[in-house]
Amino acid sequence: MENQNQLIDSFGRVHNNLRISVTDRCNIRCFYCMPAENVQFLNRSKILSFEEIIRFVRLVVPLGVNKIRLTGGEPLVRKEIPELVKMLAEIPGIDDIGITTNGILLPQYAQQLYDAGLRRINISLDALNAKKFEEITRRDEYDKVIEGIQSAHAAGFEPVKINAVSIRNMTEEEIVPFGRLARETGAEIRFIEFMPLDADNQWEREKVLFAHEIQEILTQGIMPLVPEKQSDKSAPASNFVFEDGVGRVGFIASISNPFCMSCNRFRLTADGKLRNCLFSLEETDVRALFQSNAPDEQIIEAVRNSIAAKKEGHEINTARFIQPDRPMYSIGG
Ligand code: 5AD
Ligand code: SF4
Repeated sequence: MENQNQLIDSFGRVHNNLRISVTDRCNIRCFYCMPAENVQFLNRSKILSFEEIIRFVRLVVPLGVNKIRLTGGEPLVRKEIPELVKMLAEIPGIDDIGITTNGILLPQYAQQLYDAGLRRINISLDALNAKKFEEITRRDEYDKVIEGIQSAHAAGFEPVKINAVSIRNMTEEEIVPFGRLARETGAEIRFIEFMPLDADNQWEREKVLFAHEIQEILTQGIMPLVPEKQSDKSAPASNFVFEDGVGRVGFIASISNPFCMSCNRFRLTADGKLRNCLFSLEETDVRALFQSNAPDEQIIEAVRNSIAAKKEGHEINTARFIQPDRPMYSIGG
């Protein structure tokens, strides 16, 4: 169905996929996302209410948005997230709701989330070695994440996807164990190249472990991979299966093979700022519009303008690149 109102940018990209950050708080401290200590979290009064989030979603559904993903911070530290999922699932036109979580609170929430209508779950886990996990996250919560993954399987999520950020000189040893986990549990592992979104500006190109290197490690350590047919052209991951048909892995090659030209996403931060890209340097203050009682048309116009202004892509591979001053936890993954 052609929708005349679609959010199409100047490169012809159609934006149907909204990522909503529900909090900037988190119960761990991954070094590539947050500073180690003294994180300046948003004052709770600055965070969009569920009602404001729902109002925004209702306004963008007629513009073609049909996919939502809840992110953070850690989305499950926001109270009553299953309630928000239920409210979103009731909006006609929303046919796909996902969440990206670190998994720690899933033993508590997995079943409620599933029952509320959530079907897609991505659990972030960068290491299968508890010490390594602690080195990366600066917290000793490994066992809870593993329990969380089991709870997700038990609640009925299928497939459970695991996001593993790959970092050179840090996570090489984790790759084969993750490949085995994919084969043994049916979880889908997606290796993500480390991006410059950390709070302490520690990112360097030398720390990026590239997708093709990970693929080689899996080939040597387990067996070769064969590409799967890409069902969703705008999905950032390229998906593979081991050549015996058992175990699926994907690569999100944000640095070595940017997928900007097929991007269909935009983001709403926990404090109600609209961002047309993870890496954009400008944002639109939707919360301020809400607070000033702006009419629906004005908000829709602001969304259109934001999408229209979207740049061709991140410029990480150029000398022009400027890292946004909001690190990942504050933008929303
Ligand atoms: N580079 C790559 N991935 C990151 N994530 C968070 N920060 C970074 C970064 N600097 C991942 C999280 C989560 C997803 C939303 O993004 O681990 O899985
Ligand atoms: Fe928390 Fe996710 Fe950031 Fe890690 S990447 S610190 S889990 S918000």
